[in-house]
Amino acid sequence: MFAKSLNDAAGKIGTCLQQLMEPLGNLPVVQAMRYATSGGKRVRGFLVLETARLHGVDVARALYPAAAVEMLHAYSLVHDDLPCMDDDDLRRGQPTVHVKWDQATAVLAGDALQTLAFETLTRAEVSDDPAVRLKLVASLAQASGAQGMVLGQALDIAAETAPEPLTLKAITHLQDGKTGALIRWSAEAGAVMANADVTPMCDYATALGLAFQIADDILDVEGDAAKAGKRLGKDADAGKATFVSLLGLGRAKARAAELVDQAQAALEPFGAKADTLRQAARFVIARDK
Ligand code: IPE
Ligand code: IPE
Ligand code: MG
Ligand code: MG
Ligand code: MG
Repeated sequence: MFAKSLNDAAGKIGTCLQQLMEPLGNLPVVQAMRYATSGGKRVRGFLVLETARLHGVDVARALYPAAAVEMLHAYSLVHDDLPCMDDDDLRRGQPTVHVKWDQATAVLAGDALQTLAFETLTRAEVSDDPAVRLKLVASLAQASGAQGMVLGQALDIAAETAPEPLTLKAITHLQDGKTGALIRWSAEAGAVMANADVTPMCDYATALGLAFQIADDILDVEGDAAKAGKRLGKDADAGKATFVSLLGLGRAKARAAELVDQAQAALEPFGAKADTLRQAARFVIARDK
């Protein structure tokens, strides 16, 4: 049932992404942008659409922020896969962008996806109120930059050569940046568009984002690479700081399950209307890709 909700959202977001990139022509860098935004689970875009629905915002408007966050996320993956970062040759079951084209194209396609994400948030279709559009732009900038995703990625790379293993607190901070910030932005977007209080969505998504990254780290250890569509078993060799590296598989799984309970508890004010978001929380730790 949840698979259908996610799939429906993914289809709509995919169409919107195609439309947004239609005017860009067909240079290799643009082909790479289209390639990098194809496939994927679209969890972040789904969260935008679902929290918009929960707050009574028209899906046709919410599709733009949903597509924007998927572009931002795709950029982060293209750069994450580069030889200077995680050095991966497979993503979503396909060769990574720098393998299919070259490193310059991968850097530039990532850059252009990032700028197109912000441009998309400024579109009139997003909201009649320019203050809402500005808020989405500013908050996505914060979530993506040196206090958000980029901070997390920098800490992730630094941890590979740290003299001591990171503490639980430090790993939580790292993961809250690299994965949590964009997931939080996605869940808050619907409330921002409705000019509503973002607190419940912030609490939901903070727990969800952490559970999501713990599940990714667990998949790296015991997942099926054919299903995941990316190389697994690399984190330990690279010296990545993860919940699994610190706590072991059993305790990492228990922590992820606790976080899912926490995420669900944050949805209480919304009653049954938030059931799909409850399912999303369970999906995050049960997924095989
Ligand atoms: C992968 O994100 C990177 C992490 C933050 C763990 P996803 O698991 O959402 O990747 P796609 O978009 O579905 O490919
Ligand atoms: C990547 O985390 C997170 C971002 C791109 C911000 P990972 O490096 O764990 O993601 P995968 O495992 O390559 O998908
Ligand atoms: Mg990485
Ligand atoms: Mg990686
Ligand atoms: Mg990973």
